[in-house]
Amino acid sequence: MASCNPYQDDAPPMVHPAIKARTPGVDLDVPPPEAVKNRRRPASGIEPPPPHSSPTSSARLRAAAPARSHELRIGIIGTGRMADAHAENFPKHGCRITTCLDIDQGRAKAFAQRHRFGQVARDEHELMEQCDAVAIVTPDASHARYVLRALRCNRHVLCEKPLTSSLAEARQVVAAWREAKARGVVGMVNFSYRCAAAMHHAAWMRSQGALGELRHVSASYLQGWLCDTHQPDDAALWRLGRASGGGVLADLGCHLLDLVTAITGDITSVHCVFANHPKVAADGTPYTRFQGKALDADDTAIITVAFANGGTGCLQISRWAAGRPNQIKVDLHGTRGALVFDLDHSYDQVHHHDVASKRWRTEHPAPAPSMWQRFIDAVRAGRADQPDLERGAQIQAYLDACRRSAEQSNWQKVEAWG
Ligand SMILES: NC(=O)c1ccc[n+]([C@@H]2O[C@H](COP(=O)([O-])OP(=O)(O)OC[C@H]3O[C@@H](n4cnc5c(N)ncnc54)[C@H](O)[C@@H]3O)[C@@H](O)[C@H]2O)c1
Repeated sequence: MASCNPYQDDAPPMVHPAIKARTPGVDLDVPPPEAVKNRRRPASGIEPPPPHSSPTSSARLRAAAPARSHELRIGIIGTGRMADAHAENFPKHGCRITTCLDIDQGRAKAFAQRHRFGQVARDEHELMEQCDAVAIVTPDASHARYVLRALRCNRHVLCEKPLTSSLAEARQVVAAWREAKARGVVGMVNFSYRCAAAMHHAAWMRSQGALGELRHVSASYLQGWLCDTHQPDDAALWRLGRASGGGVLADLGCHLLDLVTAITGDITSVHCVFANHPKVAADGTPYTRFQGKALDADDTAIITVAFANGGTGCLQISRWAAGRPNQIKVDLHGTRGALVFDLDHSYDQVHHHDVASKRWRTEHPAPAPSMWQRFIDAVRAGRADQPDLERGAQIQAYLDACRRSAEQSNWQKVEAWG
C-alpha cells in the first residue's frame, strides 16, 4: 500500500518487505553517459569564493575534499515532518545525524532531542562545518539557496523534491553542480518513489520492447486531504499558497513526471489546466484565505503531454480526490503491449499485456533500494547516481512548461534546463 496519510506524507515506505526475486539485474536509471564521463576524483584546489560569503570560512570549507570513507555525518536543514523520515532512515545506512537547522529554533531543538543528537546549528555556516552531507528538507522556495550553498562548500546534497521553485533557479543549480561534480560532490533529489521496483521493472521491460512504440500514457497521483482539512496547519499552509511556492503540480506532480518519464523518455510539450477551489470550514463554510494568506495555489492539475518519441499522455494530479489517501497509478500503452502499475496496491508488481497473445501476466520484481540507500551508496562509491540534480532540473523544466501553459491556456514547449 502507498502510505495513507495527509498532505505532507507523500513519502512511501522504504522498501517493500515481500521479496519475490524475478527481477532482471538491471537498473535502468543508471547515470547517462555524460555523467559517467564526468566521474572524477575530488580536486584539491580551492575554488574562488562565492558571492556573499566570508572568504576565510568558506574557503576553509571548500578546501576539504568531499568525505566518502568514514562514517558520514549528515546535517538536516528544515526540521518539519519530512525531516523525521530523513532522521530515521539515514542512520540505517551507516550515517550519523550530527546537526540540524531551522528558522524555528524551538522546532530544531525538539527535533535534535527526538532523534538523540546534540547539535543545533546557529546558521548555515556552522551546519556545513559539522557535516559531510546535507539533507535539504525545507519548503520548496528555499531549496535553491541551500543547495547552492552546500555545493559551494563541497558538501554532498540530498535535496527534497522539487529541486527548486523555478526553472531559472534550477539552471543556476545545474551550473554549480557541474563544477561541484568535478570535485567529487554527489547531488541528488529525493524523488522518493524511485524506491518502487515497479517503476524500474517497467522501464526495463520497455527497453526490452514490451510496449513496442509508445502510443498512450494515462497516469495519476491522487490525494483527498483537502476534503478533510478545515484549518490548515503550517505544513499545509505553505502548500496552499502561490506566494509560498505551493501547489499540487510542484508538490505531487514532480513525483509523477519523474516516474512516468523515467520509463517513457522525455516530454517535449505540455498543455496544462489548473483548478483551485475554496477550502471548506468544519461547518461547511467556504473560505479562500487563512491567517491572512491567500489559498490560491493549484490543487488540481491536468496535464496533456507529448513525448519525444511520438506518444501522448494524460497526467492527473489532485488533492481533492475524496477516498484516495495517496494513490499513484501508471498505465503505458504501445503497439506491442501495455505496462500497468498501481503503487496503492503494490510497489513490486507490474502487469504486462502482450498484444500478440492477448494475455495479461503479472511480474514480481525484487524490491528497489530507498533514496537514502541510493544516495549513501553513490557518496561511498564516489560516483553520480540518478535522480541527480540535473534530473531535478529537467523535472523543473516540465513544471515550468506546465505553469506557462496553465497561465496562457495553450501548448508550451519544454525549455532547456542546463
Ligand atoms: N520526498 C517525499 O516523498 C516528500 C514527502 C513530504 C515532503 N517532502 C518535501 O520536504 C520538504 C519539507 O516538507 P515538510 O512536509 O517537512 O514541511 P514542513 O512544513 O512540515 O517542514 C518544513 C520545515 O522547514 C522549516 N523552514 C521553513 N523555511 C525555512 C528556511 N528558509 N530555512 C530553514 N528552515 C526552514 C520550517 O520551520 C519547518 O520546520 C518540502 O520540499 C516537501 O516537498 C517530500
